[in-house]
Amino acid sequence: MNYAATREDALAQIAAAQDLGTLETLRVGFLGKQGSISGLLKTLGAMSAEERQSTGPQIHALREAVTEALAQRKAALEDAALDARLASEVVDLTLPAPETPRGSIHPVSQVMDELAEIFADMGFAVATGPEIEDDWHNFTALNMPETHPARAMHDTFYFPDKDGEGREMLLRTHTSPVQIRAMIAVVKDNPGGAPLRIIAPGRVYRSDSDATHTPMFHQVEGLVIDRGITLGHLKWTLETFLKAYFEREDIVLRLRPSYFPFTEPSVEVDVGFALLNGKRVLGGSGDAPGHGWMELLGSGMVNRKVIAAGGLDPDEWQGFAFGVGVDRLAMLKYGMDDLRAFFDGDLRWNAHYGFNPHDVPTLSGGVGAGA
Ligand code: PHE
Repeated sequence: MNYAATREDALAQIAAAQDLGTLETLRVGFLGKQGSISGLLKTLGAMSAEERQSTGPQIHALREAVTEALAQRKAALEDAALDARLASEVVDLTLPAPETPRGSIHPVSQVMDELAEIFADMGFAVATGPEIEDDWHNFTALNMPETHPARAMHDTFYFPDKDGEGREMLLRTHTSPVQIRAMIAVVKDNPGGAPLRIIAPGRVYRSDSDATHTPMFHQVEGLVIDRGITLGHLKWTLETFLKAYFEREDIVLRLRPSYFPFTEPSVEVDVGFALLNGKRVLGGSGDAPGHGWMELLGSGMVNRKVIAAGGLDPDEWQGFAFGVGVDRLAMLKYGMDDLRAFFDGDLRWNAHYGFNPHDVPTLSGGVGAGA
């Protein structure tokens, strides 16, 4: 066996390896369990003592030389790889600092988060429903049968085709169908149903467009179903919510009799404001000199027929519901005056009225921390 030739050949192969993968293949080929040099070492056992004396050191020297050459080549290839990376990944420290990240949270999203935070503190869960509704959930179950005049007042967008059950399909005109869905869901989970405390924020659609109306806008629905619920609970809940939302203790509400098919009695809720330099500032009684009332939301005690449509016994369960425009709430708190700009997607408007993504509304931090 010519160990010198074997060694020359191995060292030449190692020197020729151009990358770490090839080098590793060579290492395994020489020194791995089945490697050629490992094989030579195994022959030592079968040799006579004299043979081993002369051959052993040659094989060991061969192994050492190859091990050493592999290590050196590996270091050289790694250095070269690092040099190549350093040359290609340039950091130019003289460049200007990157701009602060752009993008902001839309006021509608921020206000919905604020509402979820405020109502969660009062034990309300957030519920949702589809924006493409059928006329049973949007109207019939809410005590608006097909011939009801209130249907005509909703400026509904209808789809050309009915659903599989022959129901007219439409874009929901309000978040009230979520009342029905939430009641049906609670009865399904829990026969006997209720109690139930939810808010349902989301998009709604009406064929209507001017400075204060857009074909798509946002509402938040509130629904409480329990035993012995009265109008007092409704008034307390709305007062607590509006004080937390506007972050003022002097919010004063006025409840006026009104009409909605799905509530009986129905109450329109106005909030008192003061005129300061021609601007309306919420707070104080609207009856005080220089003050006035602003219509804010619709509400009432859930109609017995609606409770029954939700699958609950109206003799056992009572409730109240309310619906309020989220865009309107945002305008009142953050001072925008044109609703249409909410949905123009103008980056300047978004940058001005948007919120820092880190300003997650919390009650302890003030729900509307830093615009
Ligand atoms: N759904 C009504 C609307 O869109 C608001 C409302 C909700 C009124 C719940 C009473 C109770 O105008």
